[in-house]
Amino acid sequence: MTAPRHIPTSSKRGVTRRQLLRTAPAAALLALASPGARAAAIRPRRKIPYGAAVALDDLRGDPRLGAALAGTCSQIVPVSELKWSELRPAPGQFAFEKADALAGFAADNGLAMRGHTLVWYAALPDWTKEIDSEAAAERALREHIETVVSRYRGRIRSWDVVNEVIPDEAHQPTDRRPSLWSRYLGERYIPLAFRIAAEADPKAQLVLNDYDIEFGDPRCRRKRAAFRHLIRQLQDADVPIHAVGLQCHLHGEMAVDRAGLESFVAELHGNGLKCLVTELDVMDQHLPAPVQRRDALVAAQVGELLAAVTAPGPLDALLTWGISDRYSWIPYAAPRADKRPNRPLPLDREFQRKPFMDVIDQFTGREA
Ligand code: XIL
Repeated sequence: MTAPRHIPTSSKRGVTRRQLLRTAPAAALLALASPGARAAAIRPRRKIPYGAAVALDDLRGDPRLGAALAGTCSQIVPVSELKWSELRPAPGQFAFEKADALAGFAADNGLAMRGHTLVWYAALPDWTKEIDSEAAAERALREHIETVVSRYRGRIRSWDVVNEVIPDEAHQPTDRRPSLWSRYLGERYIPLAFRIAAEADPKAQLVLNDYDIEFGDPRCRRKRAAFRHLIRQLQDADVPIHAVGLQCHLHGEMAVDRAGLESFVAELHGNGLKCLVTELDVMDQHLPAPVQRRDALVAAQVGELLAAVTAPGPLDALLTWGISDRYSWIPYAAPRADKRPNRPLPLDREFQRKPFMDVIDQFTGREA
């Protein structure tokens, strides 16, 4: 593992070089003359890019996190720093500091950064409740996408343009999730968002992202059917959509629908779309407690998933939603009844590899 360059912390300010050199990680940090190239040279090469989501506060608070990302991944994605809730303190205002700090960390370490997410029903600041007409909604959407995408043009090459459009209970393939955007714009906010993003950065990869597409139970099958319907609708209307993101927040106790998922991804490829796994982790709250057994089940399920989605052709990228169990949303989203710590990610709380990481290495074609 290589030491990361430039973890954007304010605590380094006013510290002398001598003081910095007293700690081993800091010494390694200064020793990286050409950090991006160096980190890229040291970390494993893979046929499929592997990345992880990271929150700036966690990165600032724990040097092991930056080291793990720089030494293992070739891309990162901000957990929340590009969501409206973080970026948009008030109408017409943009607060780019946190997203810029993550972009800086990525650039300094030769990592790509994905963009998550331009349009979502959730994580909207309170002031968006003042949006009360079709014209105001379109204006706000356009201003946001144009400003954010243009700012990171050439730096963020892949955007989750619209996130989680399909409702959890999709009774019809035409069902879409209600949101602020659909209330005032109807379904046209979806093609509109893609078109504005394409104008702002014609070279960016524009992605439609969703979850619970991966399983074979009736609810997920219906969700997948609605997702498929939406993708076809967009392609039929010549909307600039380039890839589909499968979040893959896996339910540990459920069986991945290998055949159904494989044919879904094959159809994407057949229609000229790329496929990304964007937010992989495993909700292990219903799995048995013993750690070895649990880790083995998690790894086996990830193997099932990746076998299905890579069978039709290579993924464009594979990202986990965090890299270490220490920094994950799963303890909040899916806590265990027995109060034992969740183990949803490839590294444990002490940044030690788990079998999950072996599966990632296998399916991303990691070279020795
Ligand atoms: C989650 C973050 O991980 C949490 O920290 C936050 O409180 C809520 O959002 N699907 C998505 C992500 O697209 O943006 C979500 O991230 C997880 C589910």
